[in-house]
Order: sequence, then structure tokens, then C-alpha cells
Amino acid sequence: MAAEYGSAGVAAQVLAWGITAGLPVPLLHTATRIVRDELDHAALAHACLVALGGADAPVDLAPERLAVPRGEGLLADLARAVLRDFCLGETLAVPYFAEMRRGATHPAVTPVLDRVLADEAVHRAFGWDALDALLALDPGVRGWAEARVPTLRASFDGYRTPPAAPPLTPDERACGLLDNATYGALFARTWAEDVAPRFARRGIRVDGEVR
Ligand SMILES: [Fe+2]
Ligand SMILES: [Fe+2]
Repeated sequence: MAAEYGSAGVAAQVLAWGITAGLPVPLLHTATRIVRDELDHAALAHACLVALGGADAPVDLAPERLAVPRGEGLLADLARAVLRDFCLGETLAVPYFAEMRRGATHPAVTPVLDRVLADEAVHRAFGWDALDALLALDPGVRGWAEARVPTLRASFDGYRTPPAAPPLTPDERACGLLDNATYGALFARTWAEDVAPRFARRGIRVDGEVR
């Protein structure tokens, strides 16, 4: 829920910066849709929590962590958010949600995962389209991206190597939770077969293997 709420904040910031930078209007319309999607995802996640018995569980939306990094200038700040949260974050999210949906059977969970999975594919496409628009505005974004992708990728190390956790219970599996081995394997496969080739097609050289 907190992650979805944070994604709404990032999408809203990308929309505002995208308007200032003059991104193509259809992309801006998609960005407005994404803000609504992410707010919906946060609300759906909360409804799920309540349905699973967590109505009294405190939820920390962590407002201090919602600020989107800035300070390098409009295009660089926008490019960083597009690369980290969309090209990387949303492209990685799609196979994770697909795998969660594959294992989930709980009736409070499966409709939420269906909705999120359908939306995240749109969000993934937005990221790469926005990167293309930024490259058209300033080809210098190519070298900038190449230099920063390794650091941005490291911010997803929690997916590559999640902290040690006890084995999942059948109830947790029914809710779609994934074990650590699956997290690591999905990261390596998605990076090698999806993320790295998309960068390569744009002339952005990134390490194709996850080490
Ligand atoms: Fe989302
Ligand atoms: Fe998303």
C-alpha cells in the first residue's frame, strides 16, 4: 500500500516535470492516468489488508520518503525518475505481479492483482516511451542514462537479494506472496531478457547480466 501510494507521488511529479519539459501530450495524458491508477492500487491494497483482518494494522505511508530526488536540472531530474521508477521499477513489477497472480487463490487478493497487473503493463510502456521522448529532446540523455543505470539498478537490490525470511505458509502463498528464491530469479531473468535488451535497442549500453 505504501509503495503504491509512493508510486502515485512519483507519477504526479513526472507529470509536472513532463509538462514543463514539453513531453508529447499523449504521454502526459497517460501520466495523469497513472497517477489515478496508483492511488487506486493503494486503496485496493488497503481494502485487501482490511479483508485479511488487518483493519487495525498501522500503515506508515512514510511521507518523508515520498520526495522525488531533484537538483540536477529539469531533464536530468525527469530522466532519473523515468529510468528508476518506470523503465526499471515498472518493467520489473510486471513479472513479479504475474507470478504473484499465478500463485494467488484468496478471493480478496486475486481481483487486486488482476487490476494491478493490467495497469503495470501500461506503466511499463509509458516508461520506455517517455525515455524515447527524452532522447528526442536531448540525445545527451543517452550517455547520462548509461552512467546512472548501475546506481539506479542497485536501488532494487532488495528485490535481487531479499532479507532472509522464514518459509512462506500456505496462507501466505494463497495471498500471492513470493519466496526469496523467486524474487532473485525473476530479477535476473527480467534484467537479462527484458530490461537490458530494451536499453540496448536505444543505444544505451548496460551490463546485461546480474552479478
Ligand atoms: Fe501500482
Ligand atoms: Fe505502476
